Amino acid sequence: MELEAFCRKLPKVELHAHLNGSLSHSTMLQLKRYHADSGLTDNTDAFFDEFQIAAGDTRNLKQCFQVFRIAHSLTTTPEALTLATHLTLQEFQDDGCCYIELRSTPRDTPHMTKKQYIEAIILAMLHTPANMTIISRLIVSIDRRFNFAEAQEITDLVIEFHKLYSSVVVGIEISGDPSVGKFQTFVPLLENAKNAGLKVTLHCGEVCNPDEVQEMLDFNPNRIGHGTCILPRLGGNDATWNTLCIKKTPVEVCLTSNVNTKSIANYESHHFKELFDAGIPIIICTDDKGVFATSLSQEYRLCAETFKLDNSQLAQLSHRACLYIFDETSRKTVLDKLEHFITHNDLHLQ
Ligand code: IMP
Ligand code: ZN
Repeated sequence: MELEAFCRKLPKVELHAHLNGSLSHSTMLQLKRYHADSGLTDNTDAFFDEFQIAAGDTRNLKQCFQVFRIAHSLTTTPEALTLATHLTLQEFQDDGCCYIELRSTPRDTPHMTKKQYIEAIILAMLHTPANMTIISRLIVSIDRRFNFAEAQEITDLVIEFHKLYSSVVVGIEISGDPSVGKFQTFVPLLENAKNAGLKVTLHCGEVCNPDEVQEMLDFNPNRIGHGTCILPRLGGNDATWNTLCIKKTPVEVCLTSNVNTKSIANYESHHFKELFDAGIPIIICTDDKGVFATSLSQEYRLCAETFKLDNSQLAQLSHRACLYIFDETSRKTVLDKLEHFITHNDLHLQ
């Protein structure tokens, strides 16, 4: 089987995907049609072509964060969110993804509250179209630019919804422009969420800030996203790298996102190699497949091509990723699927 087909067929888990960054061009067109049919306005006309950030795009990391406003203007009602969730889940499923933790930042819009925002995604995940087999879970995001009160409002909602729908709402995370806000603001809230049974993942080391990276690693999150500026050669220091090597905190690796936002110069110099060699758990993820015009199978393929991995090693990556999914009750189902694939394709795990 050629590599591209193998990567698509391989059962995979997606653990780092932002809903509004994952909207494909076709999903955005359907959302635009829904808005027009419902008499709602959106502000996409001037910006539609600016949504995708391809290789060599001249925008810097800060400017990249502007594009989410385009998607946000298309997800302003519970119905639009339901549509966006269903279409996105379908695309991940078609790409061979069998389990996904989709994440999203609750927003008040003229048509819904933050509470209705979260509820709409939960209900969309609970009531998927009949042909959908992908297991979907929700991680609620806190944007770094939120003040304590705003973040507290969201944390309280996440805890409330976790009590009602513990099988769907599995985690909480911190994301948004890494040059804004301070991790320490959110620590007491994350502790509350942890104590309520939620898992925690943090966008960590997207920009050079070794003090914050150290604080984040010392917090003992269940996983971190990116982990770019942890190695000394990428803006971390010996202490941050040694801490990661000792704690072996699982890292959600987003190759294309890092290259296209110029956080990393090219695929070859991605820290995947050092993480892999140090035995740090790695989960290959897309981050924002709509913005970066990628897919989960494409990320596996790029990883294999860049770091010379064979099919058994790719299957091993996917197999190992299953150990870090937040919904432990789904782990066996996902592992069974992978083990079946491994046996039938004569692959060998080490
Ligand atoms: P949403 O949370 O579903 O609205 O997805 C878009 C949001 O995810 C953005 O507004 C950012 O806050 C966050 N996001 C997406 N990609 C990244 C990233 O690479 N780093 C940090 N935050 C991100
Ligand atoms: Zn992200």
